[in-house]
Amino acid sequence: MFKKPRLTRRKAIYLGGAALGTTLLTGWLRQPKSLKAYAARKGLLYGAAGAYSKLSENQEFAKRFIEECAILTPENDLKWKAIHPQPNQYDFSQGDWLANFAQRHQLKMRGHTLVWHAYMPDWFKETVDRQNAESTLVEHITTVAGHYQGLIHSWDVVNEAIKVEDGHPLGLRKSAWFNWLGEDYIDLAFRVASEADPKAMFFYNDYGLDYDTEYDENRRNAVLNLLERLKARGTPIHGLGLQAHLLAKEKRFNAEKLRQFLRDVASLDLKIMITELDVSDKGLPYDYQKRDRRVAEVYEMYLSTVLEEPNVIGVLTWGLSDRYTWLSKHRPRNDNAPVRPLPLDREFKPKLAWESIARSFETVNL
Ligand code: G3I
Repeated sequence: MFKKPRLTRRKAIYLGGAALGTTLLTGWLRQPKSLKAYAARKGLLYGAAGAYSKLSENQEFAKRFIEECAILTPENDLKWKAIHPQPNQYDFSQGDWLANFAQRHQLKMRGHTLVWHAYMPDWFKETVDRQNAESTLVEHITTVAGHYQGLIHSWDVVNEAIKVEDGHPLGLRKSAWFNWLGEDYIDLAFRVASEADPKAMFFYNDYGLDYDTEYDENRRNAVLNLLERLKARGTPIHGLGLQAHLLAKEKRFNAEKLRQFLRDVASLDLKIMITELDVSDKGLPYDYQKRDRRVAEVYEMYLSTVLEEPNVIGVLTWGLSDRYTWLSKHRPRNDNAPVRPLPLDREFKPKLAWESIARSFETVNL
């Protein structure tokens, strides 16, 4: 039977604007030169996380960032520790620099993140308790989301609220917010964000959703349950962010299970973004060529799977160049060789991973 094609947001963007413009500009025969152009041809966004400290000090990096990316996530600059250094003091200087950078170069900007258990300022432990937790949370979200009102494409409103090992029956992380306010803190955060910046999109963002392991399966179930509960109570949530910090040596990948999870999320009328993609080369051989080949293969395997889901609207890597990646410090290789998890090398030249990402966009069926 003839099935009427669904006009997804992605197709709407493609038919309506940027993608068509890009196609006309580059011509039908020439291949695009940037990841953002490959993505735009399919109505998708490509971008990366970038830090104020790197984008403001390295002009060559900033130039390459603008060339490759259509959307920027401040890596740390909007987190509590950076933006709310004292109970009654906010420091928007670095976030504002990034917002201005994004505006000047026509990049969209993501907001990361309004509620997280980590990277909290020292005063938090000393000052916040059960009595003032709600007012502290509301004040922070109102101030920060309000400050960037109209400038943010999508906020990661709540980050990493699931931790099945904590033993809660619904898999909720027993963070300070949860201990003080119960599950309601999640709904509250979305409502306050939505009042402060009504035109942005609001995402729940989490890790450990990608592999065919019991650990990830439990996390997928817990996230899906959480999203269902939020939708059922009318929380203003628009999407799920999959961080997708992948491991090149991990073989337990099951495309069908991941696709099914994305379909389940999409069936709740939620968009999906891949928000923090990178591929750690820890455990791979020293040889650069072998490493780059496997990392590229993992990018393609993952992206070709997730991009089949029409509700996926964008992909961001967590960093753009191997010169600047959290993995150097947080997942260093045993042989201490510089890590190579991102699309550009340390000199900002495209690697095989860049080609894999481009090809994954290129092969998306509209
Ligand atoms: O700002 C200090 C600086 O003053 C000091 O000189 C330096 C010494 O090491 O540390 C700096 O702070 C570091 C900060 O990054 C800025 O570079 C912290 O030690 C370090 O812990 C922090 O790590 C960040 C981490 O989140 C915690 O906020 C990583 O860069 C960042 O990539 C990582 O990002 C997270 C996402 O937000 C959520 N998902 C997981 C992802 C990776 O862990």
